[in-house]
Amino acid sequence: VVLGLDLGTSGVKAVALDREGRKVAEAGGSYPLLTPRPGWTEQRPQDWVAATLDALGKLAEGLHALGAAPLALGLSGQMHGLVALDAQGEVVRPAPLWNDQRTGAQVQAIEERIPRPDLIARTGNRAVTGFQLPKLLWLRDTEPEAFRRTWHALLPKDYLGFVLTGEMRTEPSDASGVGALNLAERRWDQDVLRALDLDPALFPKVVNSWDVTGTLRPDLARQTGLPAGLPVVAGGGDNAAAGIALGLGSAQPGTGSVSLGTSGVLFAPLTQPRPDPEGRVHLFAHADGGYHLLGVTLACAGALQWLRDRLAPEASFDTLLAEAAQVPGGAEGLTFLPYLAGERSPHMNPDLRGAWVGLSLAHGRAHLTRALLEGTAFALADAFEVMRPLAPVTTLLATGGGARSDLWLELVSGALGVQVRRTSQEPGAAEGAALLAMPAAGLYPSLKDVMQALQPGSTPVAQRDARAARERFLQTQRRLQERP
Ligand code: XUL
Repeated sequence: VVLGLDLGTSGVKAVALDREGRKVAEAGGSYPLLTPRPGWTEQRPQDWVAATLDALGKLAEGLHALGAAPLALGLSGQMHGLVALDAQGEVVRPAPLWNDQRTGAQVQAIEERIPRPDLIARTGNRAVTGFQLPKLLWLRDTEPEAFRRTWHALLPKDYLGFVLTGEMRTEPSDASGVGALNLAERRWDQDVLRALDLDPALFPKVVNSWDVTGTLRPDLARQTGLPAGLPVVAGGGDNAAAGIALGLGSAQPGTGSVSLGTSGVLFAPLTQPRPDPEGRVHLFAHADGGYHLLGVTLACAGALQWLRDRLAPEASFDTLLAEAAQVPGGAEGLTFLPYLAGERSPHMNPDLRGAWVGLSLAHGRAHLTRALLEGTAFALADAFEVMRPLAPVTTLLATGGGARSDLWLELVSGALGVQVRRTSQEPGAAEGAALLAMPAAGLYPSLKDVMQALQPGSTPVAQRDARAARERFLQTQRRLQERP
């Protein structure tokens, strides 16, 4: 069997897949999210290590009982975080995460030193608050003593790889979320680093996502019960790894994915690096050697959870969704703008805020929910409009908690004007990381062979016409944005 690991924001998940991609064992663990100040999110890399070793130990136990031998371990995880290490490889401070918002001044500084079109042409992205690069500048600006001790800047899953093997490596799909990787050449952009006075030696060597970066250290093999010398494979950022698990290859760019999770995520594979000229969606390297676009809306199923928790704590999601299904399309004139946490794609504006607009005495809770489902679908459509001319996507595979709702998927399909399909099982980043390790395990000659052999099945979802309501959504958005 092959092992895959996903170092998520709420916890770590480890899986073991057999050659046919069937999951034979699974284990997990969690760790706290630190929010020392408003807008700051951090985790202790030491907590990741403890939870990961514990999960790997449980996985090894399960595999032992089955008599299954692990052949390789692939890594994936949350993107963009900054793990600062000193000369001895010790953690310098807690790691600011992908959703941390502290770097506004540093994003501005990057834009002052490198013109936006130049940065986008090189790295695929404009400067983004959550990326690793502005975090390093923040460290230099505000904690100079900690920065002085920092010899290495690693991404979360690459730090785990370092702990497991003793080798510091990264791979293009996660490295492109730093904000300083030259996408066409898949190496650190020396001009970008020079413009920011950053030493290139801070960053690890970039290898292929399916390459072996090292082998499991003997002491950790003893501690976890996994075989000493187990090959560890570079893997991918969580979005790229999930794309691999869904069979989304950059050589067949017609199919992408939409995830209705806490945030909404649109993933579109691409053969060539084609950034949005304004950087309103992200362009990253894919873990299969190609590229992918990523559109992120910050409030999706998280908005429904907020509505439930704050306005209807006694109701189940199923009840709320069933009520919403009874309301006619357009929610009888009610519009919801879902910017509860600002917005990433396409607005790239952390200061946007949400609203229900058009409330009347005729509206009730079911209308609030219905408008919320429609509004989150329209926000995804706004991001998709930017992706459409760049990526030839006609089909989206649906994932995430919200994808359990037919109504929501049908609204998304109607709003985006693409076919949405529901996958039979819902493979995620951990499964993708395991697939990335299959060539190194000797189970398939190449990643292409893995992906061809292990495509998940899917069934189509109906499409609901939501054009009139979307038009009203766009008008409302424009009207509100014109206000000071
Ligand atoms: C992608 C992003 C998130 C994290 C979550 O740009 O910020 O999807 O990867 O783990």
